[in-house]
Amino acid sequence: MSSQTRVSLGEGGTGLHKSEHLAGDLRLRALSIKCEGENPTGSFKDRGMTVGVSKVIEMGARMVVCASTGNTSASLAAYAARAGLKCVVLIPAGKIAQGKLAQAIAHGAIILEIEGNFDDAQRIIIELTEKNRSIALLNSINPFRLEGQKTLAFEVCDQMDFKSPDVVIVPVGNAGNISAIWKGFDELRIVRVIEKTPRLIGIQAEGAAPIASAYKLKSTEIKNVNRPETVATAIRIGAPASWRKALRAVAESKGSMETVSDAEILQAQRDLARREGIFVEPAAASSIAGLRKLTHEGLIQRDEEIVCVTTGHGLKDPEIVARLGEEPIKTKPDLDSIERVLGLR
Ligand code: F0G
Repeated sequence: MSSQTRVSLGEGGTGLHKSEHLAGDLRLRALSIKCEGENPTGSFKDRGMTVGVSKVIEMGARMVVCASTGNTSASLAAYAARAGLKCVVLIPAGKIAQGKLAQAIAHGAIILEIEGNFDDAQRIIIELTEKNRSIALLNSINPFRLEGQKTLAFEVCDQMDFKSPDVVIVPVGNAGNISAIWKGFDELRIVRVIEKTPRLIGIQAEGAAPIASAYKLKSTEIKNVNRPETVATAIRIGAPASWRKALRAVAESKGSMETVSDAEILQAQRDLARREGIFVEPAAASSIAGLRKLTHEGLIQRDEEIVCVTTGHGLKDPEIVARLGEEPIKTKPDLDSIERVLGLR
């Protein structure tokens, strides 16, 4: 990649935060949170987008497109703006978190809202780019995206002094990220930077879990979910593109797949925000919800070194906060009223 075509916003280098409180609550020895909301547009997508957009420029693209549940569109819009490319994003009407839509608008993408879900959008965008070869597809089926996203594995090992954790828990939607992360760990093992690879555990929302369902049925094929539904709109996907790679990642790493309910996701989001000071969006909290479930089921041992990946920032989805806790208390602007509310008089 030449330096003229390289497009970067300083992605990666996100924190691996040792859990101060949740680990104790769950009686775990070593739990860390890999906080991907710290990327420039607030999600892990930026790791893939820097490579993806740089490579398609090298190949001569002038226009980039994606289908998205929100974060991919926000990230692509930003990198396209930086590169001076025309950007089109297809999103499901009414199912995109406000923060993500705001980003796509701010960065000047052409936003096409379709009456349909992500799966419909992805199908159309694949047809569009097959028919019009000058338009570059930047969904995670673009292999360069995964090459960027695998750096999460490199970084985690680096942050752990070149040891691998025992378990890495990842939210799963279209299934590109878990595949990319596995590729990263496996490559480190091949070049002998690490001795053993972690078990990868993929978490899906109950209402959008075709891969977890196939895993539990020990099936080598998935059955698409026709009307996927979950509060975690980022992973509201019924026909994931990279399901084969995800099942392979789980099998090769001796990991597993699990589902979590919307209630468990929201509880995990609240716990992470209130117990650790880390605010993530619902899809991102599914890794923590999955950890809790698997620990209770005895599928994760309490003395293991665990990394939960939280994939997107909490500010992406401000509307969800209404379901997390108390509203502000309306108070008159004087000391007397404030002391009264605080029970100080
Ligand atoms: N977490 C968040 C916050 C996401 O935005 C996504 C995917 C995932 C997890 C799942 O990752 O698809 O690689 O398995 N969001 C895509 C989008 C689909 O369009 O923004 P995956």
